[in-house]
Amino acid sequence: MRVLLVNGSPRKNGNTHEALGAVEKELLERGIETEWFQIGNNAVHGCISCGTCRGTNRCAFGKDGCNELIEKLLAADGVIIGSPVYFAGPNGALCALLDRVFYATCTYCQMFKGKAAAALVTCAWTGGTAALDRLHRYFVPCQMPIVTSGDYTVFQGDSVRNKEERSMQLIRELAGNMANQLYYGKSGVRKGDGE
Ligand SMILES: Cc1cc2nc3c(=O)[nH]c(=O)nc-3n(C[C@H](O)[C@H](O)[C@H](O)COP(=O)(O)O)c2cc1C
Repeated sequence: MRVLLVNGSPRKNGNTHEALGAVEKELLERGIETEWFQIGNNAVHGCISCGTCRGTNRCAFGKDGCNELIEKLLAADGVIIGSPVYFAGPNGALCALLDRVFYATCTYCQMFKGKAAAALVTCAWTGGTAALDRLHRYFVPCQMPIVTSGDYTVFQGDSVRNKEERSMQLIRELAGNMANQLYYGKSGVRKGDGE
């Protein structure tokens, strides 16, 4: 089983990386492999609705990581997308990339159907749930089961770096629920295995 960790922050080792890294540690302990995709800080194209992807399931703009992300998603059993909160939404460049990834692969042929999906966001203070909701909207029409934690996976400031218990609990729950979804799928959660 493999989970793709998507860091949607231009800061390679910032708060979002820290939160995803903490989830990664928990996943590895549960026998799940991980792979990373970093959005980085190069320019990302928005979708121009050219329709090329209807025939190819790949984006016509292939040089900014979009098609690389599609390949990594196809090879993964699950995905966790992390983003910093920018004005109560995800990073705009991440949304530009994800619009193209999911339009190319899911709008006409549902290539990610059944892959487990989760999101987390990091912020200074507010806007986390709105940003998280925006990321969940990619998963719903793509028929990707959304994996959650015991509360919204919104991490403030240095809470993960400082290993604050509330944040670490959410991370354990997210990893535990992702593992259960991958190992047991529809058959549900083993008793006491939520964390
Ligand atoms: C353009 C911009 C907009 C931001 N907007 C918000 C916001 O609406 N709410 C908030 O709490 N933090 C906001 N922040 C702070 C970041 O969300 C926060 O520092 C985040 O943890 C950074 O993650 P990173 O280190 O992975 O890049 C903003 C930061 C930037 C650069």
